[in-house]
Amino acid sequence: VPEPVLTNDDISKLVDTNDQWIRDRTGIRERRIARENEFPSTLGVEAAVKALQVANLAPTELDLIICTSSSPEYIFPATACIIQDQIGATKAGAFDLQAACTGFIFAVNMAAQAIRSGSIKNALVVGTEVLSRFVNWKDRGTCILFGDGAGAFVLQASDIPGGIMSAVMHSDGSGADTLTLPGGGSHFPASELTIHEGKHFVHMDGKEVFRFATRVMGRAVLEALEQVKMTTDDIHCIIPHQANYRIIETAAKYLKMPLEKFVINVDRYGNTSTASIPIATVEAIQNGRLKSGDKVVFVGFGGGLTWGA
Ligand code: COA
Repeated sequence: VPEPVLTNDDISKLVDTNDQWIRDRTGIRERRIARENEFPSTLGVEAAVKALQVANLAPTELDLIICTSSSPEYIFPATACIIQDQIGATKAGAFDLQAACTGFIFAVNMAAQAIRSGSIKNALVVGTEVLSRFVNWKDRGTCILFGDGAGAFVLQASDIPGGIMSAVMHSDGSGADTLTLPGGGSHFPASELTIHEGKHFVHMDGKEVFRFATRVMGRAVLEALEQVKMTTDDIHCIIPHQANYRIIETAAKYLKMPLEKFVINVDRYGNTSTASIPIATVEAIQNGRLKSGDKVVFVGFGGGLTWGA
């Protein structure tokens, strides 16, 4: 994550809000904001290099790089290609995958499937965000939520049982308008009007997204478990997309699981979209909460609408 911290008190100087309200409704206390010279590729490269070190793998051994971002560097080229160049992954094919905040779940599944098919051996999956540049800092309904950061996984072919055991991916495009960044694409190409109308910012129906998220999260967890004939009792912990503490709380109730079984760090980083699951995973490993052999469910949801586990 980038170093600069933006607290709720800082935001209360920009819009009519306060620390108590933000903490009560979201659980967020602070988030990180990228410096001007930091981009999704900058943060993504840092995460990628660290992941390769942990995996003890040379970048030239990578066959595939999937980058997923809700705040990509450009419409094209793919942020994945910029990362590929900067880490020296000369052999790897690289592309971006767009599934909003569910991107990391989808990307990990796609990389795992490519490995399982036998066509590749080593894949890098990066979730990276500088969403702060797409947030309307005058809109108190959205600017309190998001933060910047990146995370990365290396996936490798292996005979050891385990790995990605099951996955579910879902979409419902009928909810496309619920969470969107409409400006700058070919539907609303950049113009004075699109800028005047704020189309280059994140637009969200907060209540609707909340309802959607609480409806799908628990169900996706159960679906992923059912595929491998497991129950919530069999898993060590759940690492959910970090959007809102109350959404996680509602999912825990639905699943009849204690909140302690959920890895939660939304208080310190806000919603870092595609980066939230890998950041939370790395923290869980670093603080000893997650060990080799533990069974984990990742679950996410977001724009599209998309969700998966
Ligand atoms: N500070 C103070 N008041 C605020 C506020 C803020 N930052 N944002 C909204 N309000 C006000 C509203 O204007 C409204 O006032 P009113 O009753 O006088 O009209 C009141 O608080 C309630 O607003 P509402 O939008 O109903 O609040 P909410 O309980 O739904 O909380 C969110 C808003 C955004 C925190 C909540 O809807 C949410 O978290 N949704 C999910 C968003 C999400 O996770 N998106 C990413 C998914 S990947």
